[in-house]
Amino acid sequence: MTEQTLVLIKPDGVARGLIGEIITRIERKGLKIAALKQVIVSEEIAVQHYAEHRERPFFGSLIEFITSGPVVAIVLDGERAIAAFRQIAGGTDPVEKAVPGSIRGDFALETQYNLVHGSDSPESAKREIALWFPDFTL
Ligand code: PPS
Repeated sequence: MTEQTLVLIKPDGVARGLIGEIITRIERKGLKIAALKQVIVSEEIAVQHYAEHRERPFFGSLIEFITSGPVVAIVLDGERAIAAFRQIAGGTDPVEKAVPGSIRGDFALETQYNLVHGSDSPESAKREIALWFPDFTL
């Protein structure tokens, strides 16, 4: 049985022209794109998306960043899609945690500008897919 995950190509990834590169890596891994759209995120959606990080010191800057330009939101479908995407994304800190060969390890330097988001659990994936794609059904 497959599972779904929500991926965001963040404003830095869109601005740097990395949409194609990132989607190529997703498809090469074998994950299927079940939904995709480019949007400018409202502050309301951004705050809901990152609600679990509300108390963290970087919350304000995270919201400012994710609403600063277009984002590509994607629903991926595949075997172990949540872990599989996080593997190809690499760790949150693109230098200390992400390994070369991962999206962040190959293309990013700073934690805030780490190009992509991927849901971190089945519960988060369900919540995030409903937030970004209210009409989504597989
Ligand atoms: S994770 O993936 O949830 O375990 O990562 P975590 O470290 O908890 O980070 C949660 C999100 O916050 C972003 N982040 C930061 N933004 C700006 N400045 C700093 N210092 C910082 N640290 C973490 C991180 O990129 C995660 O965003 P998403 O979009 O979920 O990847």
